[in-house]
Amino acid sequence: MKSNERLFITDWLEFLDIKRRNKRLFRRAFDWKREKHYKWGGWLSPILLEAQNRFIAEKFLPHLSKESVVLDMGCASGDFAFSIADKVKEIHGYDISKRMISRARRIAKKKRGGGELRFYAQDATKAKFLVNFDCAAILGATLYIFDDREVLSLLKNIARHMKKGGMLVAVDSLASGADTIYLYRPLDSYSACYRNEGDYFRMFDKAGFELVESDVITQKQEPLMDSRQVRSLALFRKK
Ligand SMILES: C[S@@+](CC[C@H](N)C(=O)[O-])C[C@H]1O[C@@H](n2cnc3c(N)ncnc32)[C@H](O)[C@@H]1O
Repeated sequence: MKSNERLFITDWLEFLDIKRRNKRLFRRAFDWKREKHYKWGGWLSPILLEAQNRFIAEKFLPHLSKESVVLDMGCASGDFAFSIADKVKEIHGYDISKRMISRARRIAKKKRGGGELRFYAQDATKAKFLVNFDCAAILGATLYIFDDREVLSLLKNIARHMKKGGMLVAVDSLASGADTIYLYRPLDSYSACYRNEGDYFRMFDKAGFELVESDVITQKQEPLMDSRQVRSLALFRKK
């Protein structure tokens, strides 16, 4: 599936089926609704989430081992970190939201066995990494950092803490057109920056990551804009 032209919910039976398989997702949507960076229908769309999970499972997870130390940048309450905890040695999750990090720490305390989980409430653009990583994930976080220079310095910071050949998976909302979309929705005070694909991938290249594989899912049309929002799924290798 290179380009999926489906919009959000084109098939109600499929939607109900996905809803049934993702009960936790729907519960957490209620839990997260007060957070600045989560909105209904966007990040929490189960159709997009399933496509994203499939990409990660097929392309990224095979690179993890019991020896892996993994970075989860923009980890929120740690869903991704917990999902890989049994496969790896250590996971270091960073998020700007103190509330999300406290929740992740609370859940981690109850977890028995598996890799060690550490969570840090830090802004990605100023993150201080305490270890080097074998692999890293940035799932839906760079779209909230509007300044390209800050994203580039974050990616360079990650690259400095990764060994050559380490894998990085990045999921982001981008613009389908040539222009970057700076979105501000006064109704729900949601703001995000959907970069154009060229600029986005160039930043990873400049930071020292070569693109291994990517996929794109067509997402929704923002009102009054020509360009569509697309969900980009990409796997990079540290050069
Ligand atoms: C859409 S959520 C994605 C969460 C998680 N990675 C996932 O895929 O479910 C975006 C997350 O990025 C975090 N975030 C936004 N800006 C950030 C920044 N400058 N530094 C660190 N985290 C940030 C938000 O607090 C939020 O938890």
